[in-house]
Amino acid sequence: MTSENNQDKPMRILSGMRPTGRLHLGHMKGVLENWLKLQHEHQCFFFAADWHALTTDYANPGIVKDTIWDMLVDWLAVGIDPEKCVVFIQSEVPQHAELHLLFSFITPLPWLERVPTYKDQIEQLREKDLGTYGFLGYPLLQAADILIYRADAVPVGEDQVPHVELTREVARRFNHLYRKPDQPLFPEPESLLMPAAKLPGLDGRKMSKSYNNTIELSETWKVTEKKVKTMPTDPARVRRDDPGTPEKCPVWDFHRIYSTEDERKWVHEGCTSAGIGCLDCKKVLLNHLEEELQPIRDRRTDIAAHMDDVRDVVRAGNERARIEAERTMDKVRRTLKMGYRV
Ligand code: TRP
Ligand code: SF4
Repeated sequence: MTSENNQDKPMRILSGMRPTGRLHLGHMKGVLENWLKLQHEHQCFFFAADWHALTTDYANPGIVKDTIWDMLVDWLAVGIDPEKCVVFIQSEVPQHAELHLLFSFITPLPWLERVPTYKDQIEQLREKDLGTYGFLGYPLLQAADILIYRADAVPVGEDQVPHVELTREVARRFNHLYRKPDQPLFPEPESLLMPAAKLPGLDGRKMSKSYNNTIELSETWKVTEKKVKTMPTDPARVRRDDPGTPEKCPVWDFHRIYSTEDERKWVHEGCTSAGIGCLDCKKVLLNHLEEELQPIRDRRTDIAAHMDDVRDVVRAGNERARIEAERTMDKVRRTLKMGYRV
């Protein structure tokens, strides 16, 4: 029997990432590994959200130029495959901006004002003046990013779910205002909720550049090794013969992700009985990290040595995205009776 289950059908997936710095293991475990799975099963569009970076960093535009190609190289190094998915840069597809503008006419202000990230971010990023028109409107830009490809699903973290919800409302409103009920132009996309990353930063807090607790995909092995060797451990293990509690140690969180069951058993017993030292414990972890990171770093070095090829790949992705976006915009313009254009 053939199943008509939606999950069996290839979907169109779209996701974006702001270029704000070199990627680290948190991005890899939290986002990219998800994208990697999706690219085999679905038609994926992945883009560098450079305009989104400017909604908060408009005073510091150089940040995009300094980070965007590093980020794209990181994507390719972990295995995002441009043969399988469309990799592009948002601002290379100006149709996103056109659709955003047209959506701005039909979007009630309260829809944007009540998006939780709006007030949160203004509070959290006090050093930036985010009382701008564009910052209020950025979830609507995101709606345009998504709907212009008529995506079925959007892999997002929990904080972004309200943005996908807004996208659905905008799609509904557009369809309702301008289309016959049986001929909607925009599908309502689903959120594919990516579980929060289980991998913390080196100090046990969330891995983030601003906490200075990351392992970057592009750093050298020497640097990683040093970071792991100096990672904080259970503070109760002051001396080698003090027993510890793995649950109080960020190294254990890493073992949970990387180590085999036997190794975890060995760590747990050794730690609680002071049978092993923290360095022994970290060595096991270092082996796993090396095994995972070394091939990525080798690929990264190769890829970064041929930036012309990377630019060609992205240029081709931009072109494919533009064709798809223009197809939608053509329908949008017709729907809005803009056939008077010459
Ligand atoms: N706003 C997202 C973020 O800050 C990035 C993003 C922009 C995005 N456009 C998108 C994600 C479209 C998914 C779909 O992380
Ligand atoms: Fe942490 Fe391992 Fe040391 Fe225990 S032995 S405190 S788990 S580093």
